[in-house]
Amino acid sequence: MQQMWTDIDSFIDSHLIPEDQILKQTLENTENHGFPDHLAVAPNQGMLLQMLIQMNQCKRVLELGTFAAYSTMWLARALPDDGYILTIEGRDTHAAMGQENIDRAQLKQKVDLKVGRAADVLRNLPEDTEAFDFIFIDADKQSYPEYLELSLKLSHSGTIIFLDNVIRAGAIIDKSNKKPSIEGIREMFVAMQNHPQILSCTALQTVGSKGHDGFALAIVK
Ligand code: DHB
Ligand code: MG
Repeated sequence: MQQMWTDIDSFIDSHLIPEDQILKQTLENTENHGFPDHLAVAPNQGMLLQMLIQMNQCKRVLELGTFAAYSTMWLARALPDDGYILTIEGRDTHAAMGQENIDRAQLKQKVDLKVGRAADVLRNLPEDTEAFDFIFIDADKQSYPEYLELSLKLSHSGTIIFLDNVIRAGAIIDKSNKKPSIEGIREMFVAMQNHPQILSCTALQTVGSKGHDGFALAIVK
């Protein structure tokens, strides 16, 4: 089935996702550095992130897990001129490549890349940090429950929280799979369930060029 999912994503992209030199160069640079591009969001998912931000006229965005900054580009281009993105990357090598891509895309003004474990960076933000309008959680899956709680602390009523990779080809329902990343996602589902700070939430499974995975989406009460 993978080939068909990939071909259908190509069909969708060829119709609905405009060719873009900056995004193309970002993916090429990622590959040239020897990093696998399967960690990046698919173009049609990037467009969905862009649209969620546009729909809600978000100005302040938080991203956990920059990797090559490919998703960061999609988030950034949805923002008005006075928009701001704080993106956090835990691995030095990924952060260096991400910064290179951000600089090339001339997004330095809007994008603040911090290096460190996302939970530590978030805990060390100044007390008076303004809440974010949109939060994209895409860092290590093991820490998703912690990231969800920290994100809720940095939210206001109406903040949108988008969590990537919450299906993992169905591994989340395979009881024999006790990997920390998978346990982390399961714990996140439990935490979201009836959470007093969440107005509504759901998750969707997806297939496409990145295989079978999915995302969760929450609106803060
Ligand atoms: C992985 C992580 C991601 O954020 C993603 O989108 C795809 C795969 C991974 O760690 O395998
Ligand atoms: Mg991801």
